[in-house]
Amino acid sequence: MVVEAAGSNDGVMIAAQGLTKRFGDLTAVDHIELEIRRGEIFGLLGPNGAGKTTTISMLITIRPITEGRATVNGYDVARQPAKVRASCGIVFQEPSIDTALTARENLELHARLYGVPKAIRRERIEELLALVDLKDREDSVVKTFSGGMKRRLEIARGLLHHPPVIFLDEPTLGLDPQTRQHIWDYIERLRREMRTTFVLTTHYMEEADRLCDRIAIIDRGKIVALGTPKELKDSLGGDTVVLTMKEPPLEAFRALSFVSKVDVRDGAVWLSMERATSNLAHVIQAAGGREIATVEVRRPTLEDVFIRLTGRAIRQAEEGGGEGWFGAAMQYTASTNR
Ligand SMILES: Nc1ncnc2c1ncn2[C@@H]1O[C@H](COP(=O)(O)OP(=O)(O)OP(=O)(O)O)[C@@H](O)[C@H]1O
Ligand SMILES: [Mg+2]
Repeated sequence: MVVEAAGSNDGVMIAAQGLTKRFGDLTAVDHIELEIRRGEIFGLLGPNGAGKTTTISMLITIRPITEGRATVNGYDVARQPAKVRASCGIVFQEPSIDTALTARENLELHARLYGVPKAIRRERIEELLALVDLKDREDSVVKTFSGGMKRRLEIARGLLHHPPVIFLDEPTLGLDPQTRQHIWDYIERLRREMRTTFVLTTHYMEEADRLCDRIAIIDRGKIVALGTPKELKDSLGGDTVVLTMKEPPLEAFRALSFVSKVDVRDGAVWLSMERATSNLAHVIQAAGGREIATVEVRRPTLEDVFIRLTGRAIRQAEEGGGEGWFGAAMQYTASTNR
């Protein structure tokens, strides 16, 4: 069955109200609200175990919803599962291709399962083999592939029947930078040409930043922030200029109208401000000719937002708060560099 975008859903391709999943006592997904529109690339970010895969699993009907409801492509996930499945492409986090078959056989099988019409099957398979750069290995058995090649084949398979909604759970994990770039370009092309809707999870923050129109940050099953990458980064309150210098004129820095906070930490002065690059000259002027050893301008990244929202709460509470988000960032990095 091939299902085109239903059209009667007012541009909303995915909607969830109070979407909840419990495994015994554990609430893996906790009353999530979502509204994702046609042609949107939507990111789910969150630490391990946050509930991203479980959320996707409910939306694609492979796990029953405990509470709440959801629609995909205008179809009710609980009541119209066949229509929902036919509306979705999925690249699973866990490998699921058949390693005893060749690359081409895997795609053939999937195309038949999803009823891609015979007339376009061959052409579509050619196109996707070329996309993921597996044309010259199409007749090799998949168990002879490298990890990255298998991943690329999974992606080709997820895109094969050109569904209106595609879920990608960590699609580019372990892929080299060129391949990732290649896949990003194809995602953007499908969105542009077919107005495909994408929901993706990723641990690569720059991938989320570059690709996603909007991002939901999930922690312990709840959405803790939702917005465009810019909105999320702006929520951290501007840039930071880090200066190392002897006897910094802290009062002069505090007197600058655009500076919101002055901290001395790790032998450096940390100035929080808006538009650091254009205000930097004023900062240097305020130093009144004193020698500045180093200057660093730091703009918040999505990683900082993520850490602020998911890593900070516990640690700062434990340590009595007061640390800026860079402090939290460093603690987080230190504690996760295993
Ligand atoms: N079948 C299951 N039975 C019991 N608990 C489960 C099951 N599947 C997932 N969980 C639990 O639900 C929570 C959310 O898991 P989920 O796989 O959705 O996280 P995730 O955000 O995808 O994490 P990751 O980044 O590691 O992929 C975790 O605590 C996990 O242990
Ligand atoms: Mg997962």
